[in-house]
Parts: sequence; structure tokens; C-alpha cells
Amino acid sequence: MRETESATLKVEVWRGAADGRFQAFAVPRRTHQTVLDVVTEIQREQDSTLSYRFACRVGMCGSCAMVVNDRPRWACRTRVSDVVGDGSLLRLEPLRNFTVVKDLAVEMTQFFDKWKEARGSFEPGPAPEQDFAVVAPATPERQAANAGIECIGCGVCYSACDVVAWDPHYLGPAALNRAWTLVNDVRDRGQDARLQAISGGCGCQACHTHMNCTQFCPKQIAPTYSIAGLKRAVMKRTLRGRP
Ligand code: SF4
Ligand code: SF4
Ligand code: FES
Repeated sequence: MRETESATLKVEVWRGAADGRFQAFAVPRRTHQTVLDVVTEIQREQDSTLSYRFACRVGMCGSCAMVVNDRPRWACRTRVSDVVGDGSLLRLEPLRNFTVVKDLAVEMTQFFDKWKEARGSFEPGPAPEQDFAVVAPATPERQAANAGIECIGCGVCYSACDVVAWDPHYLGPAALNRAWTLVNDVRDRGQDARLQAISGGCGCQACHTHMNCTQFCPKQIAPTYSIAGLKRAVMKRTLRGRP
């Protein structure tokens, strides 16, 4: 904690479902305190009914994401000192564009169903190779796949996407980013069906390229560029005469 910082942090936390309200808490400021530390302290010391999610605490599992002072972030790796000024307010809400289960916990089913819709799982084909495939690290396809592979499924990009807010059927940046990593996987045998799945009105063409997803992704992934790659791939497929 810096000397100039107030010893107590004012925190407003969303309570209840979509029709809930903010509840005020006061939490001691601590050195290197994270947003997840604050939520955990409230739950353990002040109100054990507060609901939220976390697992790894080290930016690996993607379960702790929430809206922090109006911006979606991962809670476990967001330092309080980075998001509030001296004596300012910390305001915590559930991720937007998700159904709120309770407090800071949201329903993730639709988000991951869209990964399935986008055919976001590896397709080995009817007769997979017996040997391990050799995929040269320097190839453009491998580089493109690597650029998006570290996604932790946190939902931050999905929460930040205005198109998801306008059209709940839009597949969204995370599912499309996953599809793009697989489009670039030279071992995958499901490309035609995948490109068809992501080319409809709720697929990559619906993206307005306004970059919120890329701006906020905590893993520095750029779904906007992945989606641009999908648009090019869909165009090439169309030029080949595929429906
Ligand atoms: S660039 Fe596309 S996917 Fe990303 S936030 Fe904007 S509309 Fe959504
Ligand atoms: S692309 Fe980034 S923000 Fe979106 S789910 Fe993956 S890690 Fe989270
Ligand atoms: S608790 Fe796992 S990413 Fe934050």
C-alpha cells in the first residue's frame, strides 16, 4: 500500500440476480491486494453469502472474471492499486452479456455452447495418423494458431462485445478465436464444416471490428484479428463454390 492511499477501501458489490442492487462494504487496504483478495475478504469476514468464482488465483483457469469499475477484468491478477485512485471506490459487477446466477457468479453455458456451435474442438478425421504430426514452428499457420491458443475461456471479451449485447445469437469473440486456431491447425480434418458453421449471420461476418475484445483480453489475444482471418477464409471457401 502506498503512503498516500486511504487505509480503507470503499467497495460496492452487486448482490442478487439481474434485478439486484449494489451493497456497500469497507475493506482494509493491503499491500499488493488484488480484486480477488477483496472479494474473498468480504466473503470470509463480512458476508458469507456472497457468491463469486475462482479456482487457480494465478491467471490460468479463467473463472474469476467480473466487471471492475466498469471494465471486464480477471479479478485474481488485477491489483486494486491499478484500478482505484487514492480513497476511491471499487465497484464490482458480474460480467455483462451473461445471465447472472447470483452476485458475481454468471451462467457460462451459452458461452461454451457457442464454442461447440463454432466447431471449436479438434477434428482428427476418420483415420487419424499413427505417428505424431510434425508442425514446423515457423510456418504462418502455426504462428496464427499459436497467437490465439492461450485463451483461458474467461469471458472478458464476450462481456465487452457490443455485438453480443445487440444479438445474443452472435457466436462472439472467444468461440470465433477458437475456431481460427483450429482453421490454422494443419492436422485438423474438419475445416469445411467449421467454416460453414462460422459463416452464417451469427458468425464472423457480424463482427463490427471495434476491438473491445482485443483491448480487454487479459491474455493479450486479439480475437478481432482471428475473426478477420475467418472472414478471409470464408471468402476463399465461397470463391471455391462452396455454399
Ligand atoms: S471486434 Fe468483433 S468480436 Fe471483438 S468486441 Fe468488436 S464486434 Fe465483438
Ligand atoms: S480470448 Fe481472451 S478475453 Fe476472450 S475468453 Fe479467451 S482469454 Fe478471455
Ligand atoms: S482465479 Fe483462475 S484466472 Fe483468476
